[in-house]
Amino acid sequence: MIGQSRAASAAQTGTGRAWWKEAVIYEIYPRSFKDSNGDGIGDLPGILEKLPYIRDLGVDTIWLAPIFQSPNRDNGYDISDYRAIMPEFGTMDDFERLMAKASSLGIRIIMDLVVNHTSDQHPWFQKSRASKDSPYRDYYIWRDSAQGHPPNNWPSVWGGSAWAFEPETASSYLHLFSPQQPDLNWDNPAVREEVFSIMKFWLDKGVSGFRMDVITMISKMPSFRDMTPEELKAPEYVYAAGPHLHTYLREMNDRVLSHYDVMTVGEAYGMHAQDIPLFTDSARRELDMVFAFDIVHVDRQGWRKVAWPLSKLKEIYAAAGRPRSPDSWNTVFLDNHDQPRAVSRFGNDSAPFREVSAKAIGTMLLTQCGTPFIYQGEELGMTNLPFDGLDDFEDVQVPLQWDTRVKRQGVDPDAFLESLKGLGRDNARSPMQWDASRHAGFTTAEKPWYRVNPNYTEINAQDCVSNAGSVYHYFRDLIALRRKYPALIYGTYQDQDPDHSAVFFYSRQLESSKILILINMSDRGFTYDTPLLARASLLLSNMRHRGVTQDVTWLAPWEARVYRA
Ligand code: GLC
Ligand code: CA
Repeated sequence: MIGQSRAASAAQTGTGRAWWKEAVIYEIYPRSFKDSNGDGIGDLPGILEKLPYIRDLGVDTIWLAPIFQSPNRDNGYDISDYRAIMPEFGTMDDFERLMAKASSLGIRIIMDLVVNHTSDQHPWFQKSRASKDSPYRDYYIWRDSAQGHPPNNWPSVWGGSAWAFEPETASSYLHLFSPQQPDLNWDNPAVREEVFSIMKFWLDKGVSGFRMDVITMISKMPSFRDMTPEELKAPEYVYAAGPHLHTYLREMNDRVLSHYDVMTVGEAYGMHAQDIPLFTDSARRELDMVFAFDIVHVDRQGWRKVAWPLSKLKEIYAAAGRPRSPDSWNTVFLDNHDQPRAVSRFGNDSAPFREVSAKAIGTMLLTQCGTPFIYQGEELGMTNLPFDGLDDFEDVQVPLQWDTRVKRQGVDPDAFLESLKGLGRDNARSPMQWDASRHAGFTTAEKPWYRVNPNYTEINAQDCVSNAGSVYHYFRDLIALRRKYPALIYGTYQDQDPDHSAVFFYSRQLESSKILILINMSDRGFTYDTPLLARASLLLSNMRHRGVTQDVTWLAPWEARVYRA
C-alpha cells in the first residue's frame, strides 16, 4: 500500500478504516535504546539488532525520536542537518538497512519532524545571524533591540526570555525553547518550501509518516505584543494560538502528505482539548491524530507535582471517547521521552505492586479509544530513576527551569527538586534494561552516556521474555487481543461506573461485539459486584494465577480484567 495516495487507500479500505488506526506504535529514543559499537551511545545498528524483540511484542510501527545531525543540546531536538544521520547513531546506509529489515518484519517507521525550530548550528541560522542582508535572515524571527533589551516579554517555555541578543547586528532572535533552538519563521514561504522538501526526502526513502514536534507553535502572533500576566502563567497557549497554524498544516497536507499513504501525529502542546478536532477531523485535511496534553497535566500544577483523583483520568478518557467530529482519531499514551515512567506515575512502582500495576495501566493504554503508543521499557514496567541532587539531571531544560523558578521566583529549592524527581524527563531517558549484565546489557563501554537505573538486575528484557507471567508477556497478550477484537479499535466508549473512586470500568462496543474492561486502580482489595459481568466471559486478566473457583466479586489491588460481554 505504501506509495499509494491517501484517497486511493481510503476508497479501498472503506468507512474510516486505516492502517494507522489499527497500529500499535513503539517509541524509540535511539540514544538510550541499544549501543552496538561500545561508545556508550545507542545507535541504528543497535535498533536493527533488537527489531525481532519489538516484532515479537506485536508492535507494527516504530516512532524514531530524532536521528538527524545535531549538536545534541536537546538530544536531537535541535537539528543542524535534516538530511544527514547523526554520526553517533550511524550512517545513511545503516538507516537504509534498518528500514529494509523493519519492512521485512512488517514494521513501519515514522520519523520525528522537528521544524518549529532548528539548531543554532544549522547553516541557515549561521547565515541568518551573520548579516541583516543575508537571504536567510528571514528564515528566523529577528527583532531590533539596540540596547539588548528583549523586544517583548515573551518567555521561553523552559524559563528565561524567549529572545537572545546578538550584539553583531544589534537584534534578538526568538527561541521558544533553549537559546540553541532558534524558531523558524513559517510566515516566510521559502521556509515552508524547505520543510516540504525535507518531508519528501524522507517519505521517498519509504518512511511511513511523521510525529511532529511542537507543531502547534509554528505560527507566531503577528503583533508580537506583550503577554498579559494571566497569559504568562501558561505561555504555551499563546504560542499555540497563531493565526496561520491551520493554513500551514493544510498546505503541508496538500503539497506533501496527500501524495503518500502515511500517518501523522502532531504534538499538541498548548492546545485545549476542545480544539483538537480542528487538527484531526479528516475533512479538514490536516493531521491524522495528535498527542493531547490533558493526560500529562493530570498530576501537575505549574512546576508542582500534585496528587490526582481517578475521576480526573475518567473525565479525560470520557471526553476522548465522545465522537467529537464525524471522523477524528485519538492517540493513547501514558509515557514518552518527555515524561516520567508510567508505572511510577499512574501505577505503583514499589513492591509488591510494580508488576501488577504496570499491567493494570497497560490494560488501560491498550483498550482506550485511539492509537496506542508504548515507550521503550514501558513493556517491562521500567521505573523512574533515583536522583540525589541537581547534578544527576542531564536534561537541558532543568538548569533553565531552576534559574527561573528557584533563583528568580524564589520557589523553595527542596520542593522544586522533589517535584523534578517525580516529573523530570530524565526518568525516561536512562538506558533500556536488556539483561542483568553490566550496564544492563545496553553497552560494553566503560560508561554509558547516561546512568542505568540500578534496578536493572531485577527489571530487564531478558528476564521478562523468559518469564511467561511478566509485564512483557501481558503487553503481548493485550496487543494480540486488540488485534483480535475490532471493538477495541473502532468501538464506541462508555464509562460504566464514572463515580467509583478506585474502579475504572468501561466498555467498547462495535455493533454486537462488546468488550468490558474492569481495572482496580488502587493498592486496596475490595468487593465489587456488577450484574454486567454475570454472563460475560473472561478474555484476559493480570491475575491468571487466581483459580476459577475464586469469588469474582473480589478485586485484588490493581487487578485488571477484560471480558467479552
Ligand atoms: C518536544 C519534544 C521535546 C523537546 C521539545 C523541543 O516537546 O518532545 O523532547 O525538548 O519539543 O524540541
Ligand atoms: Ca554506539
